[in-house]
Amino acid sequence: MGKDVIVACDFSSKQAVMDFLDKFTEEKPYVKIGMELFYAEGPSIVKEIKARGHKIFLDLKLCDIPNTVKKAMSVLSGLDVDMTNLHASGTIEMMQAALEGLTRPDGTRPLLIAVTQLTSTSEERMREQLLIDKPLDEVVMHYASNAEKAGLDGVVCSPLEAGKVHDRCGKSFVTVTPGVRFADGDIGDQVRVTTPEKAKELGSDYIVVGRPITAAEDPVAAYRRCVAEFVD
Ligand code: C5P
Repeated sequence: MGKDVIVACDFSSKQAVMDFLDKFTEEKPYVKIGMELFYAEGPSIVKEIKARGHKIFLDLKLCDIPNTVKKAMSVLSGLDVDMTNLHASGTIEMMQAALEGLTRPDGTRPLLIAVTQLTSTSEERMREQLLIDKPLDEVVMHYASNAEKAGLDGVVCSPLEAGKVHDRCGKSFVTVTPGVRFADGDIGDQVRVTTPEKAKELGSDYIVVGRPITAAEDPVAAYRRCVAEFVD
């Protein structure tokens, strides 16, 4: 698995994201497009960024009945993204349906990864609101196993969980990890953070980095620093 840095382009307009990407004249970073930008600009923003030569992780976190997710994934596969995702809580049946929908007539498909438990969900909220009594990390590992059983390619998780996920689901099961900060940077609203270098050591396959790059005075330099620490 080739390691890569994915830049979370959490912008609310095409203008803002294009102004940001224009700064990159030498490299073409892997771009994450989330709900904010996708809902603001629609599928055309995916096609336009792809046409500029970037790989794309479309982070829409689908969760619905299997048939609906299958049909939605079939539409998304036409956008020619490289990676997309869903919620593992939608069940193994939903994940299998998603894979079917995502697979193109020629047998190719984007990578499909699962969100286990959102990092905003604490163990207390899980117990009190969702009536799940198990420890959070056990739930995360169980959902990762379900994703693997369904045939998915990997999960979104904390770099701190990447090693455990690989132990449980295999080396080639992809770990995509947000919550990355430079040792000398602001952590913002993230809680359990690691540096790009530490994420590499812990076995993450892809790091997702937003504000440390998008809000940096020199985003290209910040991106290069991530690549130097994580990939090189
Ligand atoms: O700006 P920052 O580096 O915190 O951005 C991290 C990105 O990863 C955001 O787009 C956020 O929505 C996403 N993400 C996350 N934690 C998760 C899943 C996704 O931070 N568990």
